[in-house]
Amino acid sequence: MKGGVNLDSGKLWKKFIKHYKVTGFKKGIYQAPGRVNIIGEHTDYNNGFVLPMAIEKKITFAAQIRSDNIINVYSQDYDEKFSFSVNNFKFNKDKMWTNYIMGVVSEFKKMGKNLKGVDILFSGNIPQGAGLSSSAALEVGTAYLLNDLNEFNISPKEQAFLSQRAENDFVGVKCGIMDQFVSRLGRKNHLLLLDCKTNEYELIPFMSEKYIFMIIDSKVERGLVDSEYNKRREECKAAVKFFNKKLDKKVESLRAISFSELKKFKKEMDKTLYRRVKHVVSENYRVIKSAEALKENNFKKLGELMNQSHKSLSKDYEVSSKELDLLVKLAKNESEVIGARMTGAGFGGCTVNLVEKNAASKIIENIKTEYKAKTSLKADFYLTRSETGAKKSC
Ligand code: GLA
Repeated sequence: MKGGVNLDSGKLWKKFIKHYKVTGFKKGIYQAPGRVNIIGEHTDYNNGFVLPMAIEKKITFAAQIRSDNIINVYSQDYDEKFSFSVNNFKFNKDKMWTNYIMGVVSEFKKMGKNLKGVDILFSGNIPQGAGLSSSAALEVGTAYLLNDLNEFNISPKEQAFLSQRAENDFVGVKCGIMDQFVSRLGRKNHLLLLDCKTNEYELIPFMSEKYIFMIIDSKVERGLVDSEYNKRREECKAAVKFFNKKLDKKVESLRAISFSELKKFKKEMDKTLYRRVKHVVSENYRVIKSAEALKENNFKKLGELMNQSHKSLSKDYEVSSKELDLLVKLAKNESEVIGARMTGAGFGGCTVNLVEKNAASKIIENIKTEYKAKTSLKADFYLTRSETGAKKSC
């Protein structure tokens, strides 16, 4: 999604009534946030652990029920309108943003839900293509508002899962559950520890006087992301197959593999597969250790684990890029940065850094200058606290 300016509810309604006739039926203002993953990368589709948080950047929607079965959507940031009947719609390759909405509608239909028509207007400020999950926010926000306006009573978890299925099956991106889950179930001042095998989650407080998370956008769009992402998923599947042949137990996913099992078969394994599994097994361990560190307010430990995570993603999983590696290196030159890693799928997008609040402007100045000198790119910087997942604001 394109990153625009976030409008407050009053302004959004004003825009809304410019485009739609007020029906007098149920209406509302809704919002859904983007996310940044603090640690646990490429583990969700391996049934592992992730520790993301929802961020302050978000998409805001104004919507009302109609008397027919037409869905009208107006994207304020693209200045584009799109309409379809809930009973007749198909993938639109020319207006990609519409597919996230139709994908969600399609999932409601598959669940046998009788959807009423709605008018929607939305606007957001999550930078597009930066790996901060603007797509998940659009799906989750749509799922939330359709559920509320139609009074379906679908649980928050199920809203997250149906949003993921919309992306997997309608949009055609085989993402894991992390982004949609935290965009729906995240909480202000908390990180969300999710077990992607059981779908159990725990909200872990993050409140520090001293530290804050800084997101740095490399401004390199995630070019290879889809093909390389799918390739990593295939490699993980191949590794699962390998262990099923070797081990005396049923291996459903890499979650089931221990360090000692991995070590035992190192010599027999394809070298690339070995490194991929090493990343997943060690990353799961780091997520659990990070959650423990957070509970003890041991931010230095969390920072160390973030640094290790980056190394593993760069060397073993090979999903970083030279710009992301450079941003991490520059961050480490700053003594007030205690952890730095790429975040999200990789191949461009952002890094996430744990930094001392008081030194934030100095850190930004230094990294901005050096990054520009070395790449000619102008990085963007966001300091963010964690936010609550999708909600109705009025
Ligand atoms: C993307 C996907 C997530 C997850 C990350 C990598 O953001 O949407 O499901 O797999 O990549 O951790």
